[in-house]
Amino acid sequence: MPGAGWPRRGLGRGSRFSPRTGYAYGVPERLSFDRVATIYDETRGLPARALSRVLGVLVDELRGKRVLEVGVGTGRFAVPLQKSGIQVVGIDISPAMVERGLAKGLKNVIFADAARLPFPSKAFDVATTNHVLHLISEWRDVLREIARVTTESYFSIIGRSDGPELNREYHTLVEKQGFHWEPPGVHERKLTEILKPDLVIPVGPFTETASADRAIAEIARRDYTTQWEVPETLHREAVRALREQWGGKELRWSVTQEITFWRVERLAGLSTAPVQRP
Ligand SMILES: C[S@@+](CC[C@H](N)C(=O)[O-])C[C@H]1O[C@@H](n2cnc3c(N)ncnc32)[C@H](O)[C@@H]1O
Repeated sequence: MPGAGWPRRGLGRGSRFSPRTGYAYGVPERLSFDRVATIYDETRGLPARALSRVLGVLVDELRGKRVLEVGVGTGRFAVPLQKSGIQVVGIDISPAMVERGLAKGLKNVIFADAARLPFPSKAFDVATTNHVLHLISEWRDVLREIARVTTESYFSIIGRSDGPELNREYHTLVEKQGFHWEPPGVHERKLTEILKPDLVIPVGPFTETASADRAIAEIARRDYTTQWEVPETLHREAVRALREQWGGKELRWSVTQEITFWRVERLAGLSTAPVQRP
């Protein structure tokens, strides 16, 4: 039965925009990234300096370990790690995302669902998810599965930014018009509020700049999951308001990447703890 933790979004009961139920023909809903695979790296990549520093830390931490990346996508992290000699196996459900990864040299990928990992117990030393758990209503099952197949630790690379966040502004605008969206799962950055990590390795801060016009063009194209279900009229109006306020300006913000580790035996606490919704 659909229950707590399933997607709650849309304009609510009685609205002409009906929220989705979270179930399609009795199987859990999955948000497909196939639609953004071609622009994924261009819109989500870390700047080269930040990426190389993050990779430096990861290579030190992961050398000699068997690593599983759940929701490996285009191999943003897995490809350079594999090229640095780290043994990474990736799983994903999006053929188009994986295809981009394969074109960049991604190896050892299996099509599988994060909540049902096709591996025996203790097959890996370390597992990671990055920008994945918020997409999956059964995120607790994902963590339980990670705890089952992993012997040492779980980590996530969490960006903390003080930036002008046009995506957030966009959502404030559409919320004012009555559209509410919550991800089906929980963002990795929220896990730190639920269970204190065992180790956080901060990388940064880095100052980043970007043109607001480019950021607005990405929003206008609906490059981000959070925008996929916004009704067209509200979407257009929010983009218009963003252009009016931000058009022609330069955005500048500071971001630190926190490589955040939990010992695997503590994941049981993460997978049962209650989550405060905003
Ligand atoms: C936002 S992308 C992140 C990709 C990669 N981790 C990164 O940081 O660039 C989310 C990825 O999770 C995958 N994904 C979503 N739900 C999944 C599931 N239930 N099982 C496996 N992969 C899933 C998507 O297909 C997509 O490739």
